[in-house]
Amino acid sequence: MTPDELLAVARESASQAVVPYSRFPVGAAVETHDGRVFRGCNIESASYGLTICAERVAIFSAKATGADPIAIAVSCARGNPSEPTSLTPCGACRQVMMDQMGPEAKCYVDGVGTFTVAELLPLGFRLPPSVATSPE
Ligand code: THU
Repeated sequence: MTPDELLAVARESASQAVVPYSRFPVGAAVETHDGRVFRGCNIESASYGLTICAERVAIFSAKATGADPIAIAVSCARGNPSEPTSLTPCGACRQVMMDQMGPEAKCYVDGVGTFTVAELLPLGFRLPPSVATSPE
């Protein structure tokens, strides 16, 4: 899938956002190593801190099927292109991208551009291999 095609899916996904508090819909689309595409949208909670962002919904949805995300597209329908930071992923999602996709994976940000995860999260935290053992 091309970056533009993945961005188109991200835009569509924003239409499913559950945003009664912020009224700020976000859509995401993840492409996996085996060519599948997983969608995400932000889902807000009456207990505000339980809200989850579109990016994490898409990444976790892919992981839940055993697929490996290799690229992600993000679209903030009501972001303002003259303020790019109203369109770029939050810090929590950047860490999850680092955890689940690695530093070289691509992130396509609608209206802003293409970044590697390492560009979005310089010096992002990773557990050292001596500590990060894989679960049995
Ligand atoms: N939001 C996302 O879905 N992704 C981001 O990267 C930034 C913020 C959501 C969370 C909340 O529902 C709304 O946008 C306003 O912050």
